[in-house]
Amino acid sequence: MATVAGRDGVKCGTRQPGGVPSPYDVLGIERGADDDTVIAAYRARIKKAHPDHDGSVAEFRRIQSAYEAITEDGDWERRQERDDEGGVPTEFTVEYLDYAVLEDYGWGLDDEDLFAKADSANLGRDAHGRIVVEPGDTLLEAAEKSDLTWPFACRGGACSNCAVALIEGKMPPPVSHVLTDEMVDMGIRLSCSVAPVTQDAKVVFNVKQLPMMQELLLPASRFGQAYPSDD
Ligand code: FES
Repeated sequence: MATVAGRDGVKCGTRQPGGVPSPYDVLGIERGADDDTVIAAYRARIKKAHPDHDGSVAEFRRIQSAYEAITEDGDWERRQERDDEGGVPTEFTVEYLDYAVLEDYGWGLDDEDLFAKADSANLGRDAHGRIVVEPGDTLLEAAEKSDLTWPFACRGGACSNCAVALIEGKMPPPVSHVLTDEMVDMGIRLSCSVAPVTQDAKVVFNVKQLPMMQELLLPASRFGQAYPSDD
């Protein structure tokens, strides 16, 4: 059985290229750790990092993301298959498309060939492209690291200005957020609070304009850091 190492001591999994901690490093366990070890490490880490126990929200989120990435969002059978295939992905790539483009072209979120059409339309990279999400980063942070300006306001899962529609892949929502179960089932996520756990994913960002989002939307102007700031 693999051992759970201390955060300081550290006989951990694997460092990803560029020195970015792998999900195993974040939990302080070795790659290939068994299910019980993963769960025990997660519980120990998440308890210490919980904001109610003076932990930081960023660390709490980082630990959640690591656990979700290792466990395939609780799908242990899939985890076994994935580990047999080579383990947790070391890079998460997200293809994005601006909802404003769908409106301009008359496309729908459920169009099967939505991203193929976007490829053919030669849209600028502000509207369509791919970003890499490093472990520990949210989708919004990854977009910003790629010099993209996606809508946001509170950055804390409360206002829904940063909503995206997940078209392909997995991005488990955090424990606490403002979305309804129906929205989550439809693939709506808050980019300030989620990260992909599958190697590839596709999202449509800027979906705060959807009619169903209006009841949740808090004006961006209520938040000093909001973008765009003139909402
Ligand atoms: Fe407010 Fe994401 S920025 S919910």
